[in-house]
Amino acid sequence: MRKFGLIGYPLGHSFSKKYFTEKFEKEKISGCQFDLYEIPEAKQFVEIVKDHPELEGMAVTIPHKESVIPFLDELDPAAKAMGAVNCIQIKAGKTKGYNTDYLGFKHSLQAWLGKDIPPALILGTGGASKAVRQALMDLSVPFLSVSRNAGKDQITYEDLKNNPVYLRDYPLLINSTPLGTYPKIEGIPDIPLEQLTSSHRVYDLVYNPAFTQLMQACLDHGGKAKNGQDMLELQAEENWRIWNS
Ligand SMILES: NC(=O)c1ccc[n+]([C@@H]2O[C@H](COP(=O)([O-])OP(=O)(O)OC[C@H]3O[C@@H](n4cnc5c(N)ncnc54)[C@H](OP(=O)(O)O)[C@@H]3O)[C@@H](O)[C@H]2O)c1
Repeated sequence: MRKFGLIGYPLGHSFSKKYFTEKFEKEKISGCQFDLYEIPEAKQFVEIVKDHPELEGMAVTIPHKESVIPFLDELDPAAKAMGAVNCIQIKAGKTKGYNTDYLGFKHSLQAWLGKDIPPALILGTGGASKAVRQALMDLSVPFLSVSRNAGKDQITYEDLKNNPVYLRDYPLLINSTPLGTYPKIEGIPDIPLEQLTSSHRVYDLVYNPAFTQLMQACLDHGGKAKNGQDMLELQAEENWRIWNS
């Protein structure tokens, strides 16, 4: 039996397990199994690999995307640059970390906006924003990070309100905060919504619900919006490709 899985804590409802279990069935991929490994500490990953020699690949979720890195044998250069891993390939007991959130985001953004990707404001400075930043750098798209805290290389939501030039010159808004996620679906980043126009684009990394308040606000002003569902599916497919390469 070829084994794959997900490490994280807590795990609860998992997109990956459902996705891969359905994929194995739908595509008649036999002899494969996807399991959840709920581990409070990233170092427990080493034991899991030792105890399950059939394991060929692992997905990694919160809170281990960064803390698992010291326990890996090798790192893909993009994952190294971001300091975050969400996919691990296991070959003959050797482990290599990748970041497929980054690939999933990059490919879905390109599929959505083609070659004309406008300058972007990245809302939030957590783990997911690192994947977004790396993708925009690769695509040579200018961007600014927006945070609740002032800091080097980032502006605040207050700055957006006080200076309309930001929303004018950076018409792509990428929500990489959890605001708007089920069950707190009324959540919305604190941006000046009245400044939105038909030129604005919202890429919301949130995928549950499929429509967030932020997406709706952009659509209401005549702009365009998309959610994070295909990023999620693309990163899962990229994981599968890496595990089979
Ligand atoms: N579609 C996909 O494939 C995909 C992949 C990865 C993640 N995601 C989604 O992306 C979102 C972010 O993930 P993450 O792992 O980066 O989350 P996170 O680390 O918990 O939060 C990201 C950032 O959001 C900001 N933030 C958090 N709570 C906030 C609040 N109450 N108000 C305003 N800002 C807040 C913070 O930035 P500041 O402190 O700088 O304000 C934080 O660092 C989640 O909803 C996740 O489900 C989607």
